[in-house]
Amino acid sequence: MPGAKTVRVPRHVAIVMDGNGRWAKARHRPRSFGHNAGRKAVREVVEACLREGVRVLTLFAFSSENWHRPEDEVGALMSLFLRALDKEVDELHGHGVRLRFIGDLAAFDEPLRQRMRAAMTHTAGNDALHMNVAVSYGGRWDIVQATRQAAAAVARGELRAEEIDEARLGQWMSLAELPSLDLFIRTGGERRISNFLLWQVAYAELYFTDTLWPDFDQACLREAIEDYARRERRYGRTSAQVITVP
Ligand code: FPP
Repeated sequence: MPGAKTVRVPRHVAIVMDGNGRWAKARHRPRSFGHNAGRKAVREVVEACLREGVRVLTLFAFSSENWHRPEDEVGALMSLFLRALDKEVDELHGHGVRLRFIGDLAAFDEPLRQRMRAAMTHTAGNDALHMNVAVSYGGRWDIVQATRQAAAAVARGELRAEEIDEARLGQWMSLAELPSLDLFIRTGGERRISNFLLWQVAYAELYFTDTLWPDFDQACLREAIEDYARRERRYGRTSAQVITVP
């Protein structure tokens, strides 16, 4: 943004993209119309992250609980994901975006899984922005899958139960290889985590906005980043102990 002032930029931003259904309802259109409009907002946010210097963007596209939505809505979301994968991956690749999918990918049918794998492989060498799309994801699921891996390592005799600590378990959590979460954004007016990134959110700053996801644009992300830059992150220490990095 020309003339925009320099602010402390979060390295890792996660977003709960809420409000598509209400946005569509206000226009007397089906919920799938709102999800489609949400795709444009994803593009806006990716562009803004590239411009602002955000290194990692994690989006909650489909939760473990979303499988319980009406069948036609789940179907519409699946075909939207397929279309997005077919249409957007080359462009993301052109911008140097590395795409990852996190969640219980085994829950999807093979054609979709195959496209997700292909997109991850195709963009694996990119580093301009790491974009993670959480699908069939739940924060509790993540903790359970990490715990299972720890238990399996113990069963194989590679680890003793007493050696499992936060750092060790954290290594098996989704996104462990990336910078830790700095800023958690939720659009659509609710003030909840809704089982997203429960482990990873531990020290993140939370930002809630009433803006519905399809209306969330580059200026909205800028506003969230400016709000983040004004926060003091203490990690349990006192204000006096904190050295504020400009
Ligand atoms: C929540 O809004 C949104 C979803 C369950 C789907 C999010 C999906 C997209 C934004 C599609 C594009 C994403 C990618 C990665 C291509 P809601 O339906 O709960 O809205 P409501 O609270 O107003 O009902």
